[in-house]
Amino acid sequence: MAVQPVVYGEGERPPRGNYARANDDYTCAQDWSAYTAQDHDTYRRLYERQTAQLPGLACNAFIESLPHLGAKERIPRFEDVNEPLYKATRWEIVAVPGLIPEEAFFALLAGRKFPVTDWIRKPEEFEYIVEPDVFHDLYGHVPMLFNPQLADYVQRYGEGGLKAARLGACEMLSRLYWYTIEFGLIREAGALRAYGAGILSSAGELPYSVNSPEPQRRPLDLLRTMRTRYKIDSYQQTYFVIDSFQQLFDMTEGDFTPLYAQMRGMPEFAANATGD
Ligand code: PHE
Ligand code: FE
Repeated sequence: MAVQPVVYGEGERPPRGNYARANDDYTCAQDWSAYTAQDHDTYRRLYERQTAQLPGLACNAFIESLPHLGAKERIPRFEDVNEPLYKATRWEIVAVPGLIPEEAFFALLAGRKFPVTDWIRKPEEFEYIVEPDVFHDLYGHVPMLFNPQLADYVQRYGEGGLKAARLGACEMLSRLYWYTIEFGLIREAGALRAYGAGILSSAGELPYSVNSPEPQRRPLDLLRTMRTRYKIDSYQQTYFVIDSFQQLFDMTEGDFTPLYAQMRGMPEFAANATGD
């Protein structure tokens, strides 16, 4: 059965993907033969530019696992990435037409399936794209899924998401995703490094997040993070920093139900708010 497309957040535009080709769980086949020479070239150029600036900015786990994505000259076949990925952490990637509804997303993560948009941005969107494409989803997210702690964290996040949906707490929980999996920073041997996919797939935000004196950087704190709104159309004004992936895993182990109840009575923070 064909599924309905979804618009997330404040999106005024309908999403770009063709949802008619999706299954009930929103997954679809990666239409690899549909990629043009220009598509592969866009991937190659994005890959090259981003990889050149990883040293000193990206965390070790990312740099070490990036080669598992295979040839950098063309968009990988997802099945080829799945071989080493499944061996490493029992995760798989599955193709999707684009953004999918929250609960479908959570259900896939809970089953250790990471949804990856299969289409790539047009050349005129080289610098900036509003919706995640295959470069963001694959290059940004998948190397981190080779890390055992991060891999387990993402699965548990999916399970927690299904529970948050029943509790009407998705907005709070999704901020944790945003400030960790998408825009997280980690301290490695005393130096800041990026592990969030939104940073790792952005040429501008990667150096900005690590080196700019402008944004605020605070230690990850569950309540503070889940009470902090975020901007989707600019670099982050606040980053939350962890000391290790084990710390992230341990910190989120408990049941969030009482935290959600507690937060309902507390004010939110603006994306650039200071203090706590
Ligand atoms: N432990 C959280 C809960 O019970 C879920 C969660 C797990 C959230 C991992 C984030 C990361 O709701
Ligand atoms: Fe993402």
